[in-house]
Amino acid sequence: MFGRVKPLDAILATAEKKSLHRSLGAFQLTMLGIGAVIGTGIFVLTAEAAQKAGPGMMFSFVIAGFVCGVAALCYAEMAAMVPVSGSAYTYSYAVMGELVAWMVGWALILEYAIAAGAVSVGWSGYFIGWLNSSFGMNVPLEFVRGPFDGGMINMPAMLIAAAVTALLIKGTKESATVNAVLVGIKILALALFVVLTIPVIQSGKFTPFAPLGFAGISSAAASIFFAYVGFDAVSTAAEETKNPQRNMPIGLIGSLAICTIFYMLVASGVIGTVGAQPVMGADGAALSPGTPQLSQACAAIHENAVVCSKEALAWTLRQVGYPFVGWLVGAAAIIALPSVILMMMFGQTRIFFVMSRDGLLPEFFSKVHPRFHTPHVITLLTGLFVTLFAAFFPVGLLADVSNSGTLFAFAAVSIAVMVLRRTDPTRKRPFRTPAIMLTAPLAIVGCVYLFFSLSLQTIALFVAWAVLGLFVYYAYSRSRSHVGRGLIETHEADPDAPPQPVPPL
Ligand code: ALA
Repeated sequence: MFGRVKPLDAILATAEKKSLHRSLGAFQLTMLGIGAVIGTGIFVLTAEAAQKAGPGMMFSFVIAGFVCGVAALCYAEMAAMVPVSGSAYTYSYAVMGELVAWMVGWALILEYAIAAGAVSVGWSGYFIGWLNSSFGMNVPLEFVRGPFDGGMINMPAMLIAAAVTALLIKGTKESATVNAVLVGIKILALALFVVLTIPVIQSGKFTPFAPLGFAGISSAAASIFFAYVGFDAVSTAAEETKNPQRNMPIGLIGSLAICTIFYMLVASGVIGTVGAQPVMGADGAALSPGTPQLSQACAAIHENAVVCSKEALAWTLRQVGYPFVGWLVGAAAIIALPSVILMMMFGQTRIFFVMSRDGLLPEFFSKVHPRFHTPHVITLLTGLFVTLFAAFFPVGLLADVSNSGTLFAFAAVSIAVMVLRRTDPTRKRPFRTPAIMLTAPLAIVGCVYLFFSLSLQTIALFVAWAVLGLFVYYAYSRSRSHVGRGLIETHEADPDAPPQPVPPL
């Protein structure tokens, strides 16, 4: 069952023969990481985390950041050692065989495509809030929220997902400059938020600290984990990186460290100014985010709590008397979040591309458009699904489902690093995960703990997705696998990545 391994040397030979231009350095990689990481998680899900944990969400940010940190250290060893496309999927193929790799690739679909949907819904919340504060426009809720969230269909989320798909199909020009500008805008927006809120923090707002106990803190950590997702997008750029042995680990860990610091400060700013107590139902129990019950309870209090807001940071700034800065932060989110959607969808097409190259998915998936030179078939298919997710599902549910896939992939990579230390101890490791016998198990246990802190509904969806994946593997992919058919060498002649540049803006 674990026998179908794609030899590491064959994977590396593929990378050697490829002619993708290695142009990214440590700074650009860190920027790429921050570009993919800061998004809906901090801008929107802060409100959901507050509803689940109250001020205790501070701990949730620390827990989720810690798990990502140890997972990033494992990622870094792999990314530096196997600097090729496909991230967790490729690493698993080399170490634990095709079936595990397939399941990881299948889970990465959740990570990337569903995350793109979640960020689209997050964008929609800011867009609607911004329209309202700029022009006093009140768009009926039916058209700006999905059916679980007190509406019918989320049109702005659909539109932004469709627009990003179109952009990807047409082919985006490599522009580290645009990416850097967008990262700058996001950091500036968060920095403004911190500078204006931290001085007016009231310590009383932090009590009761954990109104829903440690279970609430864990549940919020499992959701807010989404805020850190994306740093692994850095590893998918390994083939375009100069001196990946040195720069990959810096890019991965550097971007994560910068984001963690910002998140801690922003969360304190929200809690200490507007408070973060959950809204309770009539029976005194806390209501779940993204449910009609919470929408009704929020309507009853005229949306007058941060947990009710779909644009938590802009709302907080308006409450503390900075409506113009709130407007600016809203504008920053509107401008910058699409790049996160783009990054996620790009990551998705890249994973599909590699899986299709390996024969596990149909070859027409990796068809390249004659004029735009982009993998238009798979981009269109991805875009279609992302648009549908964005139209009908609440941001919290999408983020949680995406997290389930990501946690699975992170755990797999952490296992792979340990296995490879045993099976191939002499291979050159430009970056060694420090204290691996502690770090990797911590990453694995952390992922499992966060996974089981997700809602039962999310876990059930993940299991259903995994079963479907197994079915597809045995019904289709297994018999067509290139490795299974002994066709490893053909990869080296194949172009193994869409002719699209990274970063994709
Ligand atoms: N970490 C990314 C976000 O929060 C996915 O939007």
